[in-house]
Amino acid sequence: MTTPVTYSTHGAIAVLRIDNPPVNALSQAVRQGLSDGMDRAEADADVAAIVICGGGRAFIAGADISEFGKPPMQPHLPELCTRIEASPKLVVAAMHGVSLGGGLEVALGCHYRVAQPSARVGLPEVHLGLIPGAGGTQRLPRLTGAEKAVEAITTGRHIKAPEALELGIIDRIEDGDSQEIGIAYAQDLLSKGAGPRPVSAMPPAEAIDWDATYDAVLKKGRGQISPATAVRAVQAASELSFDDGMTRERDLFMELMGTDQRKGLIHAFFNERAVSNLPELKGVEPRALQSIGVIGGGTMGAGIATAALLARLNVTLIEMTEEAVEAARDRITGNLQGALKRGKITQAQFDALTTQALTVATNYDTLSDVDLVVEAVFEDMDVKKQVFGKLDAVCKPGCVLATNTSYLDVNEIAASTKRPDDVIGLHFFSPAHVMKLLEVVVADATAPDVVATGFALGKMLGKISVRAGVCDGFIGNRILAVYRTAADHMVLDGASPYQIDKALTDFGFAMGPFAVADLAGLDIGWATRKRKAPDRHPEERVPTYIDRLCEQGHFGQKTGEGYYIYEAGKRGGTPNPKIAELVAAEQRDLGITPRDFTDAEIVRRYMCAMVNEGARVVEEGIAKRPLDVDMTLLFGYGFPRYWGGPMKWADIAGLDSVLADIERFAKEDAWFWQPAPLLKQLVAEGRSFDDLNRAG
Ligand code: 3HC
Ligand code: NAI
Repeated sequence: MTTPVTYSTHGAIAVLRIDNPPVNALSQAVRQGLSDGMDRAEADADVAAIVICGGGRAFIAGADISEFGKPPMQPHLPELCTRIEASPKLVVAAMHGVSLGGGLEVALGCHYRVAQPSARVGLPEVHLGLIPGAGGTQRLPRLTGAEKAVEAITTGRHIKAPEALELGIIDRIEDGDSQEIGIAYAQDLLSKGAGPRPVSAMPPAEAIDWDATYDAVLKKGRGQISPATAVRAVQAASELSFDDGMTRERDLFMELMGTDQRKGLIHAFFNERAVSNLPELKGVEPRALQSIGVIGGGTMGAGIATAALLARLNVTLIEMTEEAVEAARDRITGNLQGALKRGKITQAQFDALTTQALTVATNYDTLSDVDLVVEAVFEDMDVKKQVFGKLDAVCKPGCVLATNTSYLDVNEIAASTKRPDDVIGLHFFSPAHVMKLLEVVVADATAPDVVATGFALGKMLGKISVRAGVCDGFIGNRILAVYRTAADHMVLDGASPYQIDKALTDFGFAMGPFAVADLAGLDIGWATRKRKAPDRHPEERVPTYIDRLCEQGHFGQKTGEGYYIYEAGKRGGTPNPKIAELVAAEQRDLGITPRDFTDAEIVRRYMCAMVNEGARVVEEGIAKRPLDVDMTLLFGYGFPRYWGGPMKWADIAGLDSVLADIERFAKEDAWFWQPAPLLKQLVAEGRSFDDLNRAG
């Protein structure tokens, strides 16, 4: 039987080397291989010390996440770490790349740790809804002290080797092949007469104000429970014996393993990777990408240009007038100054990006040699067609022509050119150099290698790219329009926008829908309502109270007044008393008697509307899989990551109960709450959205 752990001896040193690509996760076979290797080394009288190291990209990236939720298989990781630590022979961890989660826990079970200068360590389990479960919460505080351990474990951050050395997590930094530096360190230690040095035998961490720390971490987690639970585990390392602390850690770990948050976060982990892995792109090579053009240097164009510059692409941006050129340059420079301030780029890089890498001009001829152009001019079909006409004339053959339109028909834009197969939608989110989501909108004629190029650009810019089909609003804005409407209906029926915002932030959203509307600008929704008015179904309920506010020139944060009133220099706003009056007037006009809503009902209606439209989007092929909807909402719309996305939330809530609620709501408003046929079909077949994800 082949094992991912190879055993070799080098004089008196035995080396256990893990080769389990891509990242040396601690699968059952790796755990077994390490356990067997320890037995063999201990049984060999010629072996005085053992080095554990990894091949490939990492020492060990942690437990094998794909095994979570399945029956646990021996040898278990906590026992393996304890077994390594209890060895009568000196054990050294030689670390390169990342040592994360269970990977760092294996290293902490070793007696000494040496790492390459570029190595990173961390206990990121909280991001999976867990805590370290193989002694990390008990051993780390014995090395770093309680406060530093709490910070490292509750943030799950990656710690670079120099800081890890300072914190006492590693003992030495050495340049060179990990196996070689491990052997050299073990020989050095042996020559100095060093023996086993178990971390568990070190004094327990000092006490800190555990309750205050727990409360602060809970508050920061915005409803996520794993970071706060980690505080209690570290507390055990200070208050209990090592063995009792290990038991407490295990109990808390197993408790979290059973939570919905763990399921949601692991769904997010795997699917943020799977989302850009499209079967249709297997074997399709993207086109070369070195320089890009951007048309329009307003909010979006400047953000897109910034993102491309930060990814080391050359950018040529076109604006209409010399004045607009300067304004666009200022916006980009401002964005890059932010990156400089946050240490993302150096002053020298800033200088190069703002001079050599960026050209801003009014002349379209400067685009003759770029590989891809993103158009981000006004949201007006005629203006867009004019721009694409010019691009068609000046861009080289094979140049990808992309539009950042939010709502317009990409097929119509493509058809206005002589090269519709080169045209695609690349829908960025504001601010484009910050927001992670990119919708890659595939039109009828878009060539496969153009789609692959869209995904390649997304990867270069560090985005999560989701494939979307053409429809009004693509995946995200289309679903947003529906759940926003559900929220508006609740306002008409008696819930206040402030109760709704609070219920949804308590559920975990970064912001409530009314605060978001104020931030985005109320004029956007107003314009959309006017645009859609002619096609409206007679039964459609369209609240208009907010249009009265827009008519008075109040568009949210940018004008200081919207659902909330904003005072200069203050964060956030206070409820605008005019809203209650406008809502009451509309209720009187429509003969509505307002009623009370519980927070739970608000969340349920909002989520049911989101899931129902998500199901339609999948059914129509606008999103290929439910996971595409989940990742869109997670990375573009502030959806709480620990629910995994709306479709995962629905799977966890039970599709039958979601459908039953939608059918119940349909008794009040049959037009809005028509259940999506796909949802009905899945319930009838006893299947879940995740079953569809697995089917591809
Ligand atoms: N288990 C299983 N698969 C893993 C994995 C893990 N721990 N870590 C990464 N992978 C897989 C990814 O899913 C991906 O698979 P794919 O190619 O099929 O999509 C592949 O490895 C490569 O991963 P990335 O694309 O993320 O590669 P990067 O180089 O960008 O990043 C990484 C590498 C920093 C290791 C990143 O993958 C990562 O952060 N992994 C998770 C680390 C983690 O959370 N460890 C803790 C696990 S929980 C634990 O240890 C519990 C213990 O306390 C008991
Ligand atoms: P904006 O009004 O801030 O910027 C548009 C810019 O385009 C202006 O600077 C204008 O001078 C320039 N422009 C207009 N016609 C031009 C032409 N023919 N040639 C060169 N430049 C021209 O608009 P914003 O917000 O940046 O939006 C641009 C596009 O991005 C729109 O299609 C919009 O729907 C879309 N979008 C907007 C988002 C947002 O949050 N603002 C989010 C995602 C997409």
